[in-house]
Amino acid sequence: MALHAGVDLRATRIDGHRLMQRLAALGEIGALPGGGNARLALTDADKAGRDLVVSWMHELGLEVRVDGIGNVFGLMAGRDDVAPVLCGSHIDTVRTGGCFDGNYGVLAGLEVIETLRDNGIVTHRPVAVAFFTNEEGARFAPDMMGSLVHALGMPLADALDTVGIDGATVGEELRRIGYAGIVPLPAVTPHAFVELHIEQGPVLANEGVRIGVVESVQGISWQEITIIGQSNHAGTTPMRFRHDAAYVAARIVVAVRDIVKTMGGDQVGTVGAVTLQPNLVNVIAASALLTVDLRNTDESLLQHAERQLAAVLDSLEGAEDVTISRRPLARFEPVVFSPRVVDLIERTARQFALSTRRMPSGAGHDAQMLSRVCPAAMIFVPSVGGLSHNPAELTHPDDLEAGANVLLHTVLALASEGIEA
Ligand code: HGY
Ligand code: MN
Ligand code: MN
Repeated sequence: MALHAGVDLRATRIDGHRLMQRLAALGEIGALPGGGNARLALTDADKAGRDLVVSWMHELGLEVRVDGIGNVFGLMAGRDDVAPVLCGSHIDTVRTGGCFDGNYGVLAGLEVIETLRDNGIVTHRPVAVAFFTNEEGARFAPDMMGSLVHALGMPLADALDTVGIDGATVGEELRRIGYAGIVPLPAVTPHAFVELHIEQGPVLANEGVRIGVVESVQGISWQEITIIGQSNHAGTTPMRFRHDAAYVAARIVVAVRDIVKTMGGDQVGTVGAVTLQPNLVNVIAASALLTVDLRNTDESLLQHAERQLAAVLDSLEGAEDVTISRRPLARFEPVVFSPRVVDLIERTARQFALSTRRMPSGAGHDAQMLSRVCPAAMIFVPSVGGLSHNPAELTHPDDLEAGANVLLHTVLALASEGIEA
């Protein structure tokens, strides 16, 4: 029995109403008409979201640390000055974001800390909650940038010099919004990290399972492809004389789908952005810039998909007499989480009689970077219709509450580890 000063901790629960209130309040920042959020990393909307969450950290009396890439950590002291248990996620969103992706894991972490505070529970280890900078990577690639820098997987200087899709640099924007922190990296050296997140896919909802016990994250390969053709007159140029960048871009979009279809299995492929120049009705496109996102749970298969795509680019370059160049934007191999933390999450969920299933994550997450520096794992809750990166993203309140209670008791268990028996 987990007793703490005579209190049976297993009866401790988060305040679901308070969690929903905070989710709604954060969801009003960068709100899209008709629902959802747009808080691209380091924009004014992101700053406003950051300021709100930091104000809640201060209200809770947490020690707030901001590192050089703008990662923010709120720490609650434990009985002993040892490595803290860290939870959290991100609060930046894509341009058509929902109100739960990332936000939920950060605000549930805050809720866990407030619940401990409300119940007078002082844990052996400090407990901390973080939001990491630029998890989405939609404005500045790669994604999970803040947690990657935290894990010393990307030099801070390189991250600060990164130029975004709108020409700004990470460093300039961090200074502009007042989050160029001074705490040396790593601002926190966690004992363990647990990230609570919506699944963002259809598996849990389709199977009617309450909690996803996440064992791994699939590999990610992002690249930007630039095609240089030749602008010419749409009416006077015979087809055999054309070097049409738009046509080549379209062939690449179809090729990505064909490669994925042929491979089957877990392979997925997406062309999310296509920009033509000069993008006019009567001008053959001079150039095209597109992004390709390939993912697979198996590294060798992901490399196979990358090779297949490269072969298509080579053949198109010759056939259409255009110039094709590629710039890697992100490349992360699949990550396997700590079996010990995964087992703990599963045990904890079952203690609450919640149905569980083990699964990989299709999306990238900060936990995959934290797993480089400490035992880490994730908890998923169902996404209605499997929808995400869409304003209609939704998870039902009782699932949000259940997930936060699993986080609470997972954190409690981790925070008592290392007490001399
Ligand atoms: O792209 C991803 O998987 C994450 O949303 N950054
Ligand atoms: Mn996310
Ligand atoms: Mn996301």
